[in-house]
Amino acid sequence: MPTILVTWWCWFIWSHTAVALLEDGYDLVIVDNLSNSEIWVLDSIDELSWKPVVYDSVDIRDEEWLSSIFSTHSIHAVIHFAWIKAVWESCEFPFRYYDNNIVGTINLLKAMDRYQVKKLIFSSSATVYDSLSQKSPYSEQSLTGYCTNPYWTTKFVIEQLLRDIWMRRGSDIIALRYFNPIWAHPSWLIWENPQWVPNNIFPYLMKVASGEYDEFTIFGDDYDTPDGTWIRDYIHVVDLANAHLAALKKVLSSKTWFTSVNIWTWTWTSVLEMIQIVQKCIGAEIPYKVWARRPWDISESVASVAKAKSYLDRESKLSVKEAAQDWRNYLQA
Ligand code: WQD
Repeated sequence: MPTILVTWWCWFIWSHTAVALLEDGYDLVIVDNLSNSEIWVLDSIDELSWKPVVYDSVDIRDEEWLSSIFSTHSIHAVIHFAWIKAVWESCEFPFRYYDNNIVGTINLLKAMDRYQVKKLIFSSSATVYDSLSQKSPYSEQSLTGYCTNPYWTTKFVIEQLLRDIWMRRGSDIIALRYFNPIWAHPSWLIWENPQWVPNNIFPYLMKVASGEYDEFTIFGDDYDTPDGTWIRDYIHVVDLANAHLAALKKVLSSKTWFTSVNIWTWTWTSVLEMIQIVQKCIGAEIPYKVWARRPWDISESVASVAKAKSYLDRESKLSVKEAAQDWRNYLQA
């Protein structure tokens, strides 16, 4: 089976994708600089997949070390997750984001070029869509480029670099655009548990549900929605992992050129509905307060899912509410 190099910093999505790839028989080489992950995740992946992986604690900005990975292993394709993704942090430390996300990607592309590796899956983001000059739902042909923070800017810039490399080197690249991955593996051996205060709704709610934090903060309840709180298309992380697997199969089996694919569920959940779902799971109240809106929170963001079905022959199967049962089962085990 092909050997896949996986660059990994945002380990939440990556760890679930690793399990899907290993279950499908791929050999994995993982490089990670441990900036936002913990080594115990590898033990969980091993417990879930029973297949060894090659792991190296490598920062992809280290050109020499990264090059040694390609010279040591016969890499057939790369799945690129090595980026940091806290919006507020990117506003505080923009150059850290440009350096990690963009310089890291440039190094990766240089190493791939040197070793003639021409197949790449990029874990991109729906944040590349220009929400200023057009309304959602967005299709893959919608305008991109209006970014309200450095993190989103890095995703947009990386997609432009990948488009260039496709044109200059004939590489086959699929950029998966999605927004809000949530929940966990049904075993609950892997889930999103960041080392710092979470930026996103789901890991924060988990920490309130576990008692680590006292209360949840709702950023704005005066939006033009049925309950006043923002609505998002939350996708189960296992569905998202399977989308990466489907994209990898596509890029290994055909000429894909550079293409982007929206990965969504076409269902929507408000912040208050999410709180109610979690409360039902744990059988207890989630204390919360309402606070001001976050400056970067964009209005509704919805994308069509037609291409994912036609191009990757996949559609999301796990709804937010159905997935809550996994958590109830885990809590009651
Ligand atoms: C969802 C909703 C908040 C936390 C993220 C980032 C980035 C991107 C996914 C890929 C919003 C509300 C949240 C909290 C809250 N990933 N919320 N209290 O805003 O869609 O942005 O999208 O690129 O990670 O850009 O996701 O999880 O931060 O927020 O009320 O403590 O929950 O206002 O409406 P978002 P989120």
